[in-house]
Amino acid sequence: MYRDLQVPTATFDEMVSFRRDLHANPELSWKETRTTEKICSFLKEQGIAFDTELAPTGVVATIPGRNATKGVIALRADIDALPIHEETGLPFASNNEGVMHACGHDGHASGLLGAAMLLNEEPELQVPVKLIFQPAEETGDGAKALIAAGVLDDVAMIFGGHIDRGYRLGSIIVTDGPVNASSDRFVVTINGKGGHAGRPHEAIDSVVVGSLLVMALQTIVSREINPAHPSVVTVGSFEAGKASNVIAETACLKGTIRAQEPEVRIELERAIRRVATAIGGLHDARIDVEIIPGTPAVINRGKATTIAREAATQIVGEKKVYPLDHANMGAEDFGWYAEERPSCYVRFGTTSPDKEYFPAHSSRFDFDERLLAVSASYFHQVAISAGHHVLDNSR
Ligand code: NI
Repeated sequence: MYRDLQVPTATFDEMVSFRRDLHANPELSWKETRTTEKICSFLKEQGIAFDTELAPTGVVATIPGRNATKGVIALRADIDALPIHEETGLPFASNNEGVMHACGHDGHASGLLGAAMLLNEEPELQVPVKLIFQPAEETGDGAKALIAAGVLDDVAMIFGGHIDRGYRLGSIIVTDGPVNASSDRFVVTINGKGGHAGRPHEAIDSVVVGSLLVMALQTIVSREINPAHPSVVTVGSFEAGKASNVIAETACLKGTIRAQEPEVRIELERAIRRVATAIGGLHDARIDVEIIPGTPAVINRGKATTIAREAATQIVGEKKVYPLDHANMGAEDFGWYAEERPSCYVRFGTTSPDKEYFPAHSSRFDFDERLLAVSASYFHQVAISAGHHVLDNSR
């Protein structure tokens, strides 16, 4: 069924074998050397021009269009793997011990190569299409590096997507507004005064101050932020003290901040600083708060989302195109592109009822390869549709 989705059998088979090769040879963020070489040689075979100058790993290809416009259409796939020991038992499981394509980026890269093949055969391609095979999504800094190197300079609109086991194979999830949360980290250091466990009045107990702070931080999301705007503050690490008979001088809390709206992201940061400082003041402990900014939220805006929804509908039909069924608090470094250009980030369903599917970042993660036909067809169509839009606007 999916092979008929505007993807010739030969193209589908090439995508599957390319995916299996990448899956067997996963590489961590910024180490995607072999992956990049493989993509380059594939592009070369197809006669598609490419550039490897923008980052130490990763590659950007361009398929020329018939018209020169003010901007080209970009399609982006991430290509890196995760530090996970694979336990799928697949015949093409990882050959690299402790490294695994557990987020489907092997499928993202292969689907985009399929789209490249389809676009390269397109006699009527109006506007050039740039294919971004991006390194280091998992570390959250690949997109940022490519943007700093100028990858978006000539881009009018950009599209991307992620494999998602939360939805049925053949569906494409297109949502207006936020589709991934921003992700920042915080480190709070509590500087108390060490002392004898039997004489607490001579000390300032950083364990007690830290414990109060862990509980107080829980009230930020529950009491300060509009419950209609999803957000998270998680303390993931609490380190203090070494001995049962010593009052710990310092404690260190580390955590994660997630938000869907940029305004909420700012509110959360302010609230964490205020609450931490106040709790320190309560017990005369000195508090240092460090916020480590990560990736911004992915927010689908305006015309790009409309174009994406129409393209998805053309590929899989109206009934299989729908929005996210709940807010997604995962992070995705596509947010850097979304801040800079009109863009849309979709999700491709991968499950069928007869098989169990494990979540992304699980050692047993896998996806139904038939979705490669869906993603390649979608990217092909969205590039053409967005090209027409850009062309109409530049006339
Ligand atoms: Ni991913």
